Amino acid sequence: MKRSRVRLFKALVSCILLYTAIIYWKKDEQRNINFEAKTHMYDPDILLHEAMKSRALNGIIVLSSVDSGYLEMAVNLYATSFTRFNIENYLFVGSDPDICAALSGLRIACHSYIHDPDGRTPSNYNTKAFKRKTQLKTKIVLEALRIGLKALITDLDIVFLKNPLPQFTCERCDIELSDDVGKGNSGFYFARPAPGAVELHERTWNMSFTRPNLTNQQALNPIVSRMRAAGRLTVVDLDKEMYPNGRVYFTEGRRMFKGDNPCPDCIIVHNNWIVSLAAKIYRFKESGLWKNDADKYFSSEDRKYLTFDLPKDFGETKTGRWERMALGNAFIIGDILNRTVILPRFHCYSCKLEMCKMPDARCHLGISYKMEKFDVQLKGRYRESVFLSHDMVPLGIKKSLSPVYFIESGTTVDEPPAPPDGVQKVIPNNESGVSVRDIKRRFGNRTESVLRFHSLYAGLKYDECDKDMLNKLKLAFGRSDFLQHP
Ligand SMILES: *[C@@H]1O[C@H](CO)[C@@H](O)[C@H](O)[C@H]1NC(C)=O
Ligand SMILES: *[C@@H]1O[C@H](CO)[C@@H](O)[C@H](O)[C@H]1NC(C)=O
Ligand SMILES: *[C@@H]1O[C@H](CO)[C@@H](O)[C@H](O)[C@H]1NC(C)=O
Ligand SMILES: *[C@@H]1O[C@H](CO)[C@@H](O)[C@H](O)[C@H]1NC(C)=O
Ligand SMILES: *[C@@H]1O[C@H](CO)[C@@H](O)[C@H](O)[C@H]1NC(C)=O
Repeated sequence: MKRSRVRLFKALVSCILLYTAIIYWKKDEQRNINFEAKTHMYDPDILLHEAMKSRALNGIIVLSSVDSGYLEMAVNLYATSFTRFNIENYLFVGSDPDICAALSGLRIACHSYIHDPDGRTPSNYNTKAFKRKTQLKTKIVLEALRIGLKALITDLDIVFLKNPLPQFTCERCDIELSDDVGKGNSGFYFARPAPGAVELHERTWNMSFTRPNLTNQQALNPIVSRMRAAGRLTVVDLDKEMYPNGRVYFTEGRRMFKGDNPCPDCIIVHNNWIVSLAAKIYRFKESGLWKNDADKYFSSEDRKYLTFDLPKDFGETKTGRWERMALGNAFIIGDILNRTVILPRFHCYSCKLEMCKMPDARCHLGISYKMEKFDVQLKGRYRESVFLSHDMVPLGIKKSLSPVYFIESGTTVDEPPAPPDGVQKVIPNNESGVSVRDIKRRFGNRTESVLRFHSLYAGLKYDECDKDMLNKLKLAFGRSDFLQHP
């Protein structure tokens, strides 16, 4: 008895000792990493300088920091903005081992700089990895200024609506800075290689070590204020109507779908003030600001699509449920027929925004559902509601439309909409809904690119449907607000 207690005591003591040792060792390791990173990161980067010099035109370079998680966005910025305005003096600066290879494969200029351990996954706002990645922007601009270049730094979730470069005309200014709801936005600004701008970037970069829990914007803004107050920095505050952030452009500007409330004065759109990469991409797509044609997203000649509408308002309590069921039905039918679902426009019952209060307002999927969750299950199987109006979709697809079908079913929906004249009725031969075989028989032969349904509230015979698909649908829908939190 006594001996075992002694043994227990000994074991306990060695455990504690080991634990302390590990903690000290870990701390030491962290110190070393920080120290090495720090000394290394003050060095001017000769290779980066060379890359910048070879890309700059008239002493100006357009810079973007990028990692693999944001590849899709980087390609979109390139396609919507750099290509469109013939901006050739850009350089993507890559922070992981793979991104520059991916971009170079698309003939997009990229310099491989620092390897971030979280580079391969997209980081959402306010995470630790996100903060660390943002700090790199400061360093990149600093390096450009050190070699005498003027630099426009642009985040990847921006689209240029005009060429911004001719707009920066204040020759005596250090920086021209866009607005982020009352603060400077470090995601889009123009800097000149003047002493004030260099000092600003050095101080901000230095702060990234003393205050690693800040984003570069949080670090930059107080320093801008202090230097401005001391007369050491001359700043142009870019007009927030011309350089709108996500809140100004989408929310206050009441822009839900492509073509809503055109903005002739806008020079850029910054797709921020929304959580998650998936939601940003989807919002760009619905707004007509997406031109990334990877895997022939738009330009495929042989891909087949399915459309349906949500014509009926079932009232506040029921509409959401029936619309979600109709969307699920569309994905099941799409899966059976190997057709990509083109999303409908939804009623706006769950939307509290001003623009949703109009009587005929319609909402996109991201207004009520979490796009990140949705994409885990269904990315690649759907297209945004404005898809068929995109310039890059072949005319042959746009013109190849089936008759409009209506699947009858009296059992699942209370008061199903009456099909208007001219639609082709499909009457299921089982009261619980249309069967997989019926769907194949009725539509499997259709050669049109776009198979059209009047609506899809009707029930299917779910007991026959593919279990994987049903499971995906179970997991895909998470309620959310338009900013995608919580
Ligand atoms: C930033 O830190 C470096 C290294 O400690 C120092 O040499 C430099 O003077 C600092 N710059 C500013 C503007 O504080
Ligand atoms: C960042 O860390 C400092 C201490 O280093 C702390 O005072 C501050 O509250 C932290 N800020 C955030 C946003 O976590
Ligand atoms: C399904 O459609 C895709 C896209 O058009 C096509 O590449 C694929 O071959 C089709 N699959 C089958 C089994 O037909
Ligand atoms: C309809 O389908 C159900 C379930 O598969 C089946 O039990 C029932 O017999 C079918 N009814 C008819 C009329 O075929
Ligand atoms: C295709 O159409 C033909 C002729 O109408 C029909 O005999 C055949 O069963 C259909 N096949 C499929 C898979 O729907």
